[in-house]
Amino acid sequence: MGEYKMTGAELASQLKGQLNNNMLFNGISGVDDENLHLSEADIKWWRDAKLGLFVHWGIYSVVGKGEWAYFNEGFTQEEYRKIAEEQFKPQLSAEEIAAEWLDCAEKAGMKYAVMTTRHHDGFSLWDSKCSEGNFTSSAIGCDDYVKSFTDECHKRGIHTGLYYSPMDWRFEGYFDPHGKPESALKMKQQAYGQIRELCTQYGRIDILWYDGGWLAHNGTDADAAWLWEPIKLNKSVRELQPNIMVSPRSGYRGDFECDEGVRMPIGSIVPIPWEKCMSVSQAWGYMPNDRFMDSDEVIKILVNTVCRDGNMLLNVGPDVNGRFPAQAKKILSDLGEFMRENGESIYGTRAGLWQPVDGVFGSTCKGDAMYLHILDCNKFNELVLPEVDGTILLAALLDGTTVPFEQQNGVRFSIPDAIITEGRVDTVIKLIVQNL
Ligand code: GLC
Repeated sequence: MGEYKMTGAELASQLKGQLNNNMLFNGISGVDDENLHLSEADIKWWRDAKLGLFVHWGIYSVVGKGEWAYFNEGFTQEEYRKIAEEQFKPQLSAEEIAAEWLDCAEKAGMKYAVMTTRHHDGFSLWDSKCSEGNFTSSAIGCDDYVKSFTDECHKRGIHTGLYYSPMDWRFEGYFDPHGKPESALKMKQQAYGQIRELCTQYGRIDILWYDGGWLAHNGTDADAAWLWEPIKLNKSVRELQPNIMVSPRSGYRGDFECDEGVRMPIGSIVPIPWEKCMSVSQAWGYMPNDRFMDSDEVIKILVNTVCRDGNMLLNVGPDVNGRFPAQAKKILSDLGEFMRENGESIYGTRAGLWQPVDGVFGSTCKGDAMYLHILDCNKFNELVLPEVDGTILLAALLDGTTVPFEQQNGVRFSIPDAIITEGRVDTVIKLIVQNL
């Protein structure tokens, strides 16, 4: 089993993308401008979607040491370019690759997908005219993967997201923006130009998933706003793509918060839009001996996320041919099975009305239905839940099996032993409540 340990700047990058320990926060952080805010109606599709696919794919998929390979391995630009020219030769066509990714996404019940158009290593997966040194897929004789991906998303009605890293390790100005201002400025111009290309050449884009607005591996994305001018940048993005959602990593506070990594969500319902982004394996980019998560753990994280009003963006790192590793496919298909059985209690819901109890249960609601997501049935049977407004008319599993309950000075349920011994990761009880 590969053991991938993040250290140094890579680890710092992950940590700064995590909400604080008990997931309490006062609002989305970053530079702000009210004119950029989207309404709850604008982001309803995303709130309803709950589950998306994240894909990290690029030259690093050849190296097989995660998406930080260029930096961590200390390649020179020439060496890295050589790897691109000589070894980045996917066997599948761009259309086949996009179909493979989105087939897997659909089978998993994912409603949106976000691909890395350009990571911190600077390699663009499209024919970018603004790429420094023309470091693009077309320059090495490959296709425009952003086109095939966005076309395929549009064809299937999957909401389309593009990941883009403003910073680029190839520029000295990234590492020393004050000492090398010209290089930093060139990097900024590249970002503005490329973002414009991404927002104009591929039809409707629903999410621009910025990552890496920080500079010199230091400080927050907002600390680097003096260079990027994220308000100006995002104003022009919105002119091109009016309701596009943006992640908080350009320095502007964005339309949702991120919680990066596989730690289990705990605590109360989070009062602002947020997204848990994590990988099915240790790295984001492909590694041949990567260690994969247990499907049940992924499902548990999803349930704990949704019961705290978040979305999950689940990442897979395809191999150099663009194929998903078999273990990743297995996780996505297990997730799909879970979503087919329980999707009613996830898609289109909002968290609550009850606050979750860590490790025991959480709840979601939609219309006049409430759903209890029970992670530990024995502990749950001991709880008395706070009273709800309205009379509970019915409590039943999604297959119709009724669950006894009592509503008097609070609500108590007695999940029958036969159900408990089935040992589901998430036992969902649907409640029909009058006057909700
Ligand atoms: C981090 C890493 C990056 C990864 C991203 C995903 O910021 O730098 O490699 O793409 O998180 O959220």
